[in-house]
Amino acid sequence: MANLLLTKPLDMLLHEAAETGEHSLKRVLGPINLIMLGVGAIIGAGIFVLTGSAAARYAGPGIVISYILAGVACAFAGLCYAEFASLIPIAGSAYTYGYATLGEIFAWIIGWDLILEYAFGAATVASGWSSTLVAFLQDYGINIPPQICDTPGTVWVFLTDKARWVPLSTLPSGVDYSALPHATAVFNLLAFLAILVVTLILVIGIQESASFNTGIVFVKLFAVITFIAVAAGYVMAHKAQSVANWTPFVPQLPGYGWAGVIRAAGVVFFAYIGFDAVSTAAQEAKNPQRDMPIGILGSLLICTVLYILVSFLLTGTVHYTRLNVGAPVSLAIRETGVRWGSYVVNAGALAGLSTVMLVMLLGQSRVFYSMSRDGLLWKWAGEIHPKFRTPWKSSIVVGIFVACFAAVVPIGILGELVSIGTLLAFVIVCAGIWILRVRKPELHRPFKTPLVPFVPIMGMLVALLMMVFLPWQTWSRLIIWLAIGMVIYFTYGRHHSKVQRVAAGKSPE
Ligand code: ALA
Repeated sequence: MANLLLTKPLDMLLHEAAETGEHSLKRVLGPINLIMLGVGAIIGAGIFVLTGSAAARYAGPGIVISYILAGVACAFAGLCYAEFASLIPIAGSAYTYGYATLGEIFAWIIGWDLILEYAFGAATVASGWSSTLVAFLQDYGINIPPQICDTPGTVWVFLTDKARWVPLSTLPSGVDYSALPHATAVFNLLAFLAILVVTLILVIGIQESASFNTGIVFVKLFAVITFIAVAAGYVMAHKAQSVANWTPFVPQLPGYGWAGVIRAAGVVFFAYIGFDAVSTAAQEAKNPQRDMPIGILGSLLICTVLYILVSFLLTGTVHYTRLNVGAPVSLAIRETGVRWGSYVVNAGALAGLSTVMLVMLLGQSRVFYSMSRDGLLWKWAGEIHPKFRTPWKSSIVVGIFVACFAAVVPIGILGELVSIGTLLAFVIVCAGIWILRVRKPELHRPFKTPLVPFVPIMGMLVALLMMVFLPWQTWSRLIIWLAIGMVIYFTYGRHHSKVQRVAAGKSPE
């Protein structure tokens, strides 16, 4: 048992963090790139899609409070991530922090768990991206054949009056659609191709990936700011109607109220996922000690402010009972009558989702890279391309797996699995900060989490609370996933672990 709890020595980690040359990752990212990576990963399906249904079903205008609560919860974890990422600037993120503090078995669990966040997160978003693209093109009269737009077996119906294909599941029930043309999807080619394109960019280089990300992040920020400006104008011009929409702010109806606000916070937590992915770029940052906290906390702060404004204006523009639709932000901007605004918002949503896929896949390949370098995964996953200086094999294998997954597996259930996986990582990172402060108080920490142990304890409690509120099916899937991980660890990782070999007096290779 004892050797399952071996920790990776900090000097070994710091030595790895300082590596340079052909076989190491390339250090090119500055503070702006890192903030942009964070914003790239954060703003996506959560704000553009989930906000509407969470407001309509649970919180009403109180969705603003849900966003504040989820933002505060993420801030606790974000502060802990910032300390670790500047202290141990290694690509493995939470996996590496777990290795340094809790021991190998916990590191493995968290590394395996991060697949849920990054790989499954990218697959979930790829599927959302394909639906957004289909709707976007339909606005211009272009219908893509439904056979290549969804997972196998999903039935689509052609609405002759609107001249567009839509999934049967999104139509009101109790109506007979049998007279309309039907088609059954075979393979989600759109999601598949989206992941492959993003993977290609990631293989070509970190600088190229960061530049692509920054360019697209501007498009989505422009869209979000356009929405805020247009909706604010509308709300000012229709004060009485907006005030009526906001009253009561927390509806006191069955299923709503304060319990609904908290439930909605658990749903919109998904909208914040991604700020932690910045930490996986630590070995590619020029000055990680200074810039990691800037990237993690800066992106989180920007997105929190934007989310609060968007949710406030959204519920002021449209009554919350009408928001349970696939594209609530588009609906609200249409309501203002500013037609060009809705093109900008739709383009922003499409752009927004593509950078979420990019940064999630970046994170996944970097975690595999770190695990492989530690001997816990196969050697090829840690190989760096001599020219591109990226973990190309890891990126390609992850990309193909995620592309296939997004193309054939129905995504509905995965969103909550992504959330529980992320929350588990948050618990371990917060615990790690506290443990390391007690065990190694003397370490020089370029960024210090304030108010330790209060902040890490709050981070753990809030994350655990949100996990408890998730359905038991999500828990059982998490447990099955971790059990599969254990089999791989005990049959491969444990026997090839470098830390184990060094502890047994052998050479690390
Ligand atoms: N935060 C990301 C999104 O909302 C995962 O799409």
